[in-house]
Amino acid sequence: MAPTRLLLVDDEARQRELLSGFLAKRGFSIFSAGTGEEALELYHDIFAPVAIVDMKMPGMDGLELLTRLREVNPFIQVIVLTAFGSVETAVAAMKRGAFDYLTKPVENLDELLVKLEKAASQNRLAVANEVMTERLAEVFPTSEIFGESPAIMKVKELISVVAPEEATVLITGSSGTGKELVARALHALSPRAEQNLVAINCAAFPETLLESELFGYERGAFTGAEKAKQGRFELADGGTLFLDEIAEMPLTMQVKLLRVLEDRKIERLGSVKQIALDIRIIAATNRDLKKMVAEGRFREDLYYRLNVITIDLPPLKDRGGDLLLLAEKFVDKFARKIGKEVSGIDNDAARILNSYHWPGNVRELENIIERAVVLTRTRALSQHDLTGLSSPEKAPSADREITTIAEVEKEHIRHCLDQLGWNIGMCAERLGIHRNTLRSKIREYQLSRDSQ
Ligand SMILES: Nc1ncnc2c1ncn2[C@@H]1O[C@H](COP(=O)(O)OP(=O)(O)OP(=O)(O)O)[C@@H](O)[C@H]1O
Ligand SMILES: [Mg+2]
Repeated sequence: MAPTRLLLVDDEARQRELLSGFLAKRGFSIFSAGTGEEALELYHDIFAPVAIVDMKMPGMDGLELLTRLREVNPFIQVIVLTAFGSVETAVAAMKRGAFDYLTKPVENLDELLVKLEKAASQNRLAVANEVMTERLAEVFPTSEIFGESPAIMKVKELISVVAPEEATVLITGSSGTGKELVARALHALSPRAEQNLVAINCAAFPETLLESELFGYERGAFTGAEKAKQGRFELADGGTLFLDEIAEMPLTMQVKLLRVLEDRKIERLGSVKQIALDIRIIAATNRDLKKMVAEGRFREDLYYRLNVITIDLPPLKDRGGDLLLLAEKFVDKFARKIGKEVSGIDNDAARILNSYHWPGNVRELENIIERAVVLTRTRALSQHDLTGLSSPEKAPSADREITTIAEVEKEHIRHCLDQLGWNIGMCAERLGIHRNTLRSKIREYQLSRDSQ
């Protein structure tokens, strides 16, 4: 392995010699400096991943050097040396992002070595994480996963670990939390990225259609099958199949899916010829599948097949500071998109955003910000641009125009669909009607995702 570059800064020449003599024999390539100023100049050329910095030096002290080094390279891991008994200095250094500290004189060189190795590995991790994020932004520019809350960082870490594997992934989380975004990231970061990601929304098709969509069919397999058609399984061969809203899959189809997962083979409808498949499965749901298993509405064996690795997305409400961070990102995104000079959110607007409960999660936030950016007359979004959130639905007034029941029903369904991001299963449940009824009403009223 190539030696790890190490910056060593101490004003005492003897200390520098002692440490560099020891570390040079243990896989480090040492660059030393006697002052903070000298160290900074040197650093621009060497860009070492780790550094040892004495806190007490004439001129620029260690604390300031630490800060300046981290400005040049945010991933640098610095171990500071403090005088015996100066705990405050050590604490101050840790607060400013030092990786660890040791008290002088450094007698236990093995301890130093252990700390340096940890620091070097921490640096590699931080850089790898950054590369992952950049790579994601590159392959998938419009779909960066925003957020820095611990919960989302954990999700991102899991994505980078799981993406290169073949394992089946189940993505859970309520409506609008970013399940599809995660599924796409998993595919984009996998060795299958060059192949297709084929998605199918299991709630969008009545049972028989779902089967022919998935499996495809031969000519004449049923009335209307005038030509043979490849199903989504086949289309995803070599790539990834994303089974969205898997909980809505009828039980009989669940059995068929399970068989495919076990055999990795399918037959088109109307054919006995087996087609071998190489697909990776990612499934998503906003339901509690475990509960559905207990209620007999979802097959247990299929549940275990799918649930090899779970990525659970927390509701937006539980992501702390991410809420405003996401809001700001969306302001930028839509301002750029429509070429309008809007930047940021004022304090009142931020308060309103923070106090709302966000049942539609990130999608709802994105929609609300988009609308606000279009409507606003100010540079920063203000509470006037967020009226939909602060005031409850308009109360019916006495002189309200009388419309037909069908008109009210149409509006009500449209509202529900928009709110829940066109999740048919959830909408049907909320409205207290069957999925198929909802589907036929959508057709009847000619509702579609983008119609206003
Ligand atoms: N962390 C995030 N960063 C940036 N955009 C996000 C994030 N999470 C979600 N979004 C955006 O919010 C919208 C909804 O996300 P997505 O469609 O992935 O949610 P979902 O969980 O699949 O929702 P549903 O359950 O309704 O299908 C998308 O436009 C997506 O790009
Ligand atoms: Mg989705």
